[in-house]
Amino acid sequence: MATTRFVGLFALTIFLCLAAGELLRPSMAADAGGLPRDLFSLGIASRICTDRNSTARASTDFGHMFEATPEAVLLPATPADIADLILFSASSPAPFPVAALGKGHSGRGQTLVPGGVVVDMRALGRGGGAPRINVSAAGAGADAAAAPYVDAGGEQLWADVLRAALEHGLAPRVCTDYLHLTVGGTLSNAGIGGQAFRHGPQIANVHELDVITGTGEMVTCSRAKNSELFFAVLGGLGQFGKMEALLRQLSFEPGFVFAKDVTYVQFLERVCEEERVLRSAGVWDVPHPWLNLFIPRSRILDFDAGVFKCIFRDANPAGRILMYPMNKDRWDDRMTTATPNDDVFYNVALLWSALSANDVEQLHRDNKAVIAFCEKAGIGYKQYLPHHTSQDGWLQHFGVKWSKIIELKAKYDPKAILSPGQRMFLSSLANAATRAVA
Ligand SMILES: *[C@@H]1O[C@H](CO)[C@@H](O)[C@H](O)[C@H]1NC(C)=O
Ligand SMILES: *[C@@H]1O[C@H](CO)[C@@H](O)[C@H](O)[C@H]1NC(C)=O
Repeated sequence: MATTRFVGLFALTIFLCLAAGELLRPSMAADAGGLPRDLFSLGIASRICTDRNSTARASTDFGHMFEATPEAVLLPATPADIADLILFSASSPAPFPVAALGKGHSGRGQTLVPGGVVVDMRALGRGGGAPRINVSAAGAGADAAAAPYVDAGGEQLWADVLRAALEHGLAPRVCTDYLHLTVGGTLSNAGIGGQAFRHGPQIANVHELDVITGTGEMVTCSRAKNSELFFAVLGGLGQFGKMEALLRQLSFEPGFVFAKDVTYVQFLERVCEEERVLRSAGVWDVPHPWLNLFIPRSRILDFDAGVFKCIFRDANPAGRILMYPMNKDRWDDRMTTATPNDDVFYNVALLWSALSANDVEQLHRDNKAVIAFCEKAGIGYKQYLPHHTSQDGWLQHFGVKWSKIIELKAKYDPKAILSPGQRMFLSSLANAATRAVA
């Protein structure tokens, strides 16, 4: 069977949520005053930017609710540059945190890394050189018998993967609702969209990944090879490695009928069109206190009664609500993403835009009320693009998977260097282990 790799180097750092004050506290072993001097005698030194412009650009995200300035930004020319950086940190007496930045679409500062180095993944695709998206259509050469697939750098945008695939009459099986996200970014979470009920999330459609672990090793993994790491990084919130991943079967879905002359691409790009409109109205770069939940089917009516008919009954916040069902049997529970227990669960995405400071406060209160309702009513929900402010929150989020996650972290990122913005391992690993047992 041909390799199907989707590639991408990503370490991602997904969504994190913290209070800004906490974020600003130097979180890891790095000296708040700066990075180890020796870093600047490495071969990658010329690609490490410490100027204000570079660090300022990496100091916030789409959510616009948290800010923290890194010490430096690495513009990698190759994946090996990233491995060099991580290896250096991991072997340093004062390890510093590292987070990958794709399009910076995290909502709660997950890509921020005060006191550390942001890896600007998009630089990988900018250098010219070998193509970073390769489509292998079925029937081509030696792969005649194989299903089509694409190899893509983790820094590549889904919009570009789609475009490249369409040239061969193919399309990814599952596209996210918004396509201007990187491959590594969505695969670090799960990657869901309207086709996920049938094909599962994007992570269920990956054949092979190249991963750079928290010890700076580059490892190729798949279901058959280094499978533990493969399952760990898919939905792994950037905790175990940066992916250089890829997408497996791209298959064009026939049979959709689009009303009103909307083409397939126009349909998939619908959110980008919306982005254009919002940008021109100056309301794109505003705070986005989003809340994404997976709600089990057996409790969706209770959720409706408690949330839409009660908490939001008289409210009319700016934004958008998306809801669609998914089948749990299309998810692979060996992967890190946490899902509810029911066979069918709904994605409920409350995609708010806060147009004033009052809105931010109000939406925070509303979101808190939603979570409190779910807790009180015992709805076995899970957050998607999760944000937990304490390790207890993560423990509850992952449930029985938590002890395995600690074990994987100890193995693949023992210095807890990667993606601290998730706030999963801000305290020491030993501490985490104690809590899991307790
Ligand atoms: C920083 O950004 C400003 C404004 O865009 C620009 O004028 C200046 O040249 C930049 N400085 C560096 C060092 O790139
Ligand atoms: C795409 O193919 C070229 C030529 O074989 C290769 O050098 C490059 O690394 C490939 N890119 C990816 C992302 O696999």
